[in-house]
Amino acid sequence: MRPLGLICFLAAIATGVAQNDVSDASASFTLRSWNEAFALANATVAQLKLDEKIGLVTGVGQFSSRCVGNVNPVARLGIPGFCLNDGPAGVRPTKGVTGFPPGIAAAATFSRRLMRARGVALGEEFRGKGINMHLGPALDLMRNPKAGRGWESFGPDPYLTGEAAFETITGIQSVGVMACAKHYIANNQEHWRYGLIAEVDDRTMHEMYHYPFLRAIEANVSSVMCAYNQFNGTSSCHNAALIGPNGLLRKDGFQGYIVSDWGATHDSAADNANAGLDMEMPGDYILIGGGTFNSFLGLGSLRSDVNSGKVPSSRLDQMVTRVLAPWYRLGQDSGYPPVNFDAQHSDGSGPNNLDVSVRSVAHTALAREIAANSAVLLKNEADALPLKSAGMSGKRVAIIGKDALMLNLNCGDSNECDDGTMTIGWGSGSNSLEFTVPPITALNETLEAAGAVVTTSLSNDKTAGAKAAKGQDVAIVLVNAMSGELGFYQSVNGNQGDRNDLELWFAGSDLVKAVAAVCSNTIVVVHSIGPVNMPWSTNENVTAIMFAGAPGEQTGPALVDVLFGAVNPSGRLPYSIADDEKSYGTTIVTDPGFPLGFPVINYTERLLLDHRYMDVHAITPRFEYGFGLSYTTFEYTGLSITSSATNSQVVSFTVKNTGAVAGTEKPQLYLGYPPSAGEPPKVLRGFDEVQLAPGASQRVVMTLESREMSVWDTPSQSFIRPPGAFTVFVGASSRDIRLTGTF
Ligand code: NOJ
Repeated sequence: MRPLGLICFLAAIATGVAQNDVSDASASFTLRSWNEAFALANATVAQLKLDEKIGLVTGVGQFSSRCVGNVNPVARLGIPGFCLNDGPAGVRPTKGVTGFPPGIAAAATFSRRLMRARGVALGEEFRGKGINMHLGPALDLMRNPKAGRGWESFGPDPYLTGEAAFETITGIQSVGVMACAKHYIANNQEHWRYGLIAEVDDRTMHEMYHYPFLRAIEANVSSVMCAYNQFNGTSSCHNAALIGPNGLLRKDGFQGYIVSDWGATHDSAADNANAGLDMEMPGDYILIGGGTFNSFLGLGSLRSDVNSGKVPSSRLDQMVTRVLAPWYRLGQDSGYPPVNFDAQHSDGSGPNNLDVSVRSVAHTALAREIAANSAVLLKNEADALPLKSAGMSGKRVAIIGKDALMLNLNCGDSNECDDGTMTIGWGSGSNSLEFTVPPITALNETLEAAGAVVTTSLSNDKTAGAKAAKGQDVAIVLVNAMSGELGFYQSVNGNQGDRNDLELWFAGSDLVKAVAAVCSNTIVVVHSIGPVNMPWSTNENVTAIMFAGAPGEQTGPALVDVLFGAVNPSGRLPYSIADDEKSYGTTIVTDPGFPLGFPVINYTERLLLDHRYMDVHAITPRFEYGFGLSYTTFEYTGLSITSSATNSQVVSFTVKNTGAVAGTEKPQLYLGYPPSAGEPPKVLRGFDEVQLAPGASQRVVMTLESREMSVWDTPSQSFIRPPGAFTVFVGASSRDIRLTGTF
């Protein structure tokens, strides 16, 4: 996979590792069973006074928190004020941490190995900073491609999201850090998120939106964060059908605690506590736009509700026990590092210790590997890629577009920059970009070392771009689009969290067209948090498209890795790229629906998101879900399907590398249900990562467990396998099916 000469050549690229990097925080701890952990938690609760108990289920308040959220300590029993901190793609907002690629990039790798490794590395950095709980992963499906926070999670498919949830949580918790699956539930757009009413039927809920949380429970997740929005008419954080003793989470065996999103509690302490909320964050809270949001579970209200009997003291004990049990289970009661940063003072002021770096050479390399492996090669005509450094001497290359540039790191702690390269969206899911290596740095270094003559036009000005491209052997055009969290910034580049449309930002498509009009070897690099319109993709002068997605801080080196072939691209689209929003079958609801105040959003598309909708409605996307090219080719043969004694079906087949270079294939298994099941035509149920030398082949085995061949049956409230014939589709994408069989 890595031609030797090229490795040495590329290894020299600066990756921005700080000189004072320390090795990973040691994560030696004793993992306890839930039973052992609950026994310890119960014994501790028996020693707590009323106010101490209330303190452990309540945040200290937004501006008293050292971390994004802190609970009150009980010093006399050695219980620290737990530190809860964002976010899903790295420690935020502070310094000396790695800016990992976000969830959508992990999804694009279609690699459980990299999802797990990312989780471990994230956990190591949170532990190193003394953070008890990682506020992630985000498991909200990308119901609509414009959804502002879609990139924090793993795309529109519940199975891929579920597998990513399992691997990420297992990785984070393997080093003793608590993970928090969020946002429960139907938190799928930013417009009106503080109260929109999502109406989701029972089957859709179980098969789509709840499914990733079920996988999180199976990974022993420590906590679940209830969402801002309402679900079927009741706020998520006091919705007993979701979080109560007989609610969905507990029925599926969830043992940890339910924490509110920041300021997501409503009504009285008794309403929240009795419905099933275990912890409120962040305590007193200043609302965006002014006003104070007083803590509902805070000392005053919860104390009087417990004293009056409105909240039984046994319920308060249960809340505290659930908060302490994951802490004991992951061994945080012994030898856990103290909090050594201050998220509220990321500018360097305040009582912090920002010299503690938790970066490591291994984490930088992993961030680069995930970024390179999430890049999706969408088009490659006439071997435009990989660029061959050996033949580059004297070649004229133009680098065009402001996305090549370094971004301004002083524009805030939530990456609401829109002035340079796009590495991640904005809001609480963003991360530190202190060590970003922009494309221009890595490309310049590589091209100059290879003896190329480089011309640049580092704006999106069409005329300047075309002038720079004219007469060049190669023009590399970089364009982007991003989105983020409404609650942080009302508008970035005119977009309020959710994107306004699916166009590239800063007239990116016009720039591509202007360059392609004068250069017959135009290579387009797209940095985007989700699908974008690419009307120029069929332009014959656009010889290659590298959809590099949202790559995190190692964007430049990772881009060079795939453009020059040190890494053979193996990223696969974790969403389809169609020509308009209509092709996805959902909308972002922007009309508040006054006088009701908040819109009611009916999930009438039910199971049909993304390619599932397109399959049913005969819409051909420009690039389909699961698609991605390689610098080599793969052949699929020998499908076998056998039943096992445990009612599972074992699907196996052979993948062979039929090209001239090493590469990694990501075979996918889609299941076709019997018609009576009412399922979409093809449902993702398996994927794998197969690294193959030229000419080599490997037998791939994917097992369909009973639940993966079932549908949710509302009357019995269980997954039931429908009778009839199933079809197995094995292939390189949701539409590039190479083998078909039935059982
Ligand atoms: C609100 C966001 O929705 C959530 O994801 C985040 O963890 C909290 N704020 C804390 O920043």
